[in-house]
Amino acid sequence: MKKIILFSVVCIFSLATMAIAVNNGAAEINLKDTWKVEGKQKAVIFTHATHQTNNQCIECHATAEGGNFTLPGTIAGQNDDNAAHNFCWTCHTKKNNTKVKKICTRCHKG
Ligand code: HEC
Ligand code: HEC
Ligand code: HEC
Repeated sequence: MKKIILFSVVCIFSLATMAIAVNNGAAEINLKDTWKVEGKQKAVIFTHATHQTNNQCIECHATAEGGNFTLPGTIAGQNDDNAAHNFCWTCHTKKNNTKVKKICTRCHKG
């Protein structure tokens, strides 16, 4: 009997932990691979974990659970017309992160 109770307690505890656990995704994400970008620039290694400390999930994802998303537009070119730049730079400008904005190698470092 004792064993059964102990087993049940362990089960309930595991279920509870599973329910709270959120999939935060990888700490770093190679966006060139993920978005299948063709081009000569070095891959952007996105610091996903760092960005989770500075921003809310829903600032980038449609829901708080995160997951894949599609950038509207084409990923090509060196300026804001590039959908990826538009996504990254719009927020950096809004949050006064002017350091990173146009230093190519801060993002293209892969
Ligand atoms: C600054 C933007 C940004 C924030 C904030 C952010 N993410 Fe992401 N997340 C991304 C990008 C970019 C990708 C990779 C692109 C893709 O999957 O299409 C991604 C991918 C993911 C994935 C897919 C799995 C993976 O590793 O590729 C999950 C799950 C995820 N994010 C969860 C979260 C959760 C949960 C939060 C909040 C705690 C969060 N993200 C905050 C931008 C962000
Ligand atoms: C804030 C981050 C960031 C900065 C800074 C940045 N880029 Fe990008 N860029 C991206 C992302 C994200 C992509 C799409 C993912 C990838 O290609 O790895 C991209 C894609 C590109 C592409 C299209 C793909 C290719 O390889 O041809 C070009 C061209 C490009 N960037 C040029 C530049 C140049 C030139 C600079 C500096 C003036 C620059 N980028 C600065 C984030 C950035
Ligand atoms: C929702 C807002 C938001 C979006 C979208 C966003 N960033 Fe950032 N990013 C920030 C903030 C806030 C910081 C921290 C600024 C500081 O250093 O005080 C930051 C810092 C950075 C840094 C410097 C610190 C580090 O982690 O190396 C890089 C590089 C960077 N971002 C790349 C990107 C790339 C690439 C994308 C697009 C795929 C992107 N960011 C999209 C808000 C954002």
